[in-house]
Amino acid sequence: MTISFIAAVARNGVVGRDGKMPWRVPGEQKGFKAATMGHPMVMGRRTFESHGLLPGRRHIVLTRDPDWSADGVEVARSVDETLFLVGDQDFFVTGGAQVWALFAPYADRMVLSEIPLEPEGDTYFPGWPLTDSPTWREAAREPHDGWTVLTYERRKPRAQVEVGPRIAGSAEAGATEIKAGASCAIGDGERLLLTRREDNGLWCLPGGGAEVGETWSEAAVREAREETGLQVAVDSVLSAYSNPDVVIVYPDGRRRAIFGVCFRAHVIDGTAGTSDEVTESAWFTKVEAARLPIIPAHRPLVRAFFENDSATTIFD
Ligand SMILES: NC(=O)c1ccc[n+]([C@@H]2O[C@H](COP(=O)([O-])OP(=O)(O)OC[C@H]3O[C@@H](n4cnc5c(N)ncnc54)[C@H](OP(=O)(O)O)[C@@H]3O)[C@@H](O)[C@H]2O)c1
Repeated sequence: MTISFIAAVARNGVVGRDGKMPWRVPGEQKGFKAATMGHPMVMGRRTFESHGLLPGRRHIVLTRDPDWSADGVEVARSVDETLFLVGDQDFFVTGGAQVWALFAPYADRMVLSEIPLEPEGDTYFPGWPLTDSPTWREAAREPHDGWTVLTYERRKPRAQVEVGPRIAGSAEAGATEIKAGASCAIGDGERLLLTRREDNGLWCLPGGGAEVGETWSEAAVREAREETGLQVAVDSVLSAYSNPDVVIVYPDGRRRAIFGVCFRAHVIDGTAGTSDEVTESAWFTKVEAARLPIIPAHRPLVRAFFENDSATTIFD
């Protein structure tokens, strides 16, 4: 899944005034239409109300108002819920400023039409200008007659993994209902450690449910130790994902997707063994792993591990 921001930004960072865009640049909107057509669009309630329904695209509108609805629109009340609704599809965050700021840690790419004007405004693109940004690098620059399309990509890799939020644990927060899974893609040069599950005979990455009070990486390290006997250390987040098949519905109607976080990790000590849950553990190359029966949820993680890729992450 690729999360892209798309926006038209004046040279001074302005994106809006009085609920509208404070310029008209003939032809510029065609690029927006071509890029977003067929993809879900995620936007704030104010942005939606400024233009209404646009044909050919899913509209997912963020609002905190439990009574808000509009024809042809899916309503989301949080980032979690938005990600759950979108599933695995690539999508665009089309604004405005509040919603771009909300999704900034998740975005992979930004497609920005820079408008060579300096209008007065009341809404600004977050973090503008992106020149010299530690997070974003300019990947392409395409001049048009009256605007320039700048494409930015997130710089990789991310390595700060120990600072993830602790899984909340108070009964008042209803946090005992939160399901969070953590796993380790343990690498040994060219090979990956996989374990065979006792319950269904399929192969998977060592991992399991995180416990209240743990960080995601602490949970992943503990699970790897319990399942294989190995002492491991995490290196970076390989992927943080939600499971679109399972969702928790709170009594007030809020829904939360189940999250999993998979870390790249390496062995500090020990030899991979077995446990109550694991009947075998073994190291596999990319070609060998491709032939194994691996649990469906872990297939993309195994692929990402060997492709030296990282899926969308939720922590900086
Ligand atoms: N130049 C461009 O490319 C471009 C693109 C889009 C928009 N714009 C401009 O940007 C301006 C609108 O931007 P904006 O920043 O004022 O508003 P916005 O991001 O479009 O919408 C803000 C609304 O989103 C909802 N929201 C925000 N954070 C939320 C959260 N954490 N959870 C749930 N809902 C949340 C709230 O809705 P409720 O109040 O209903 O709770 C909030 O009032 C307009 O001037 C528009 O023309 C420009």
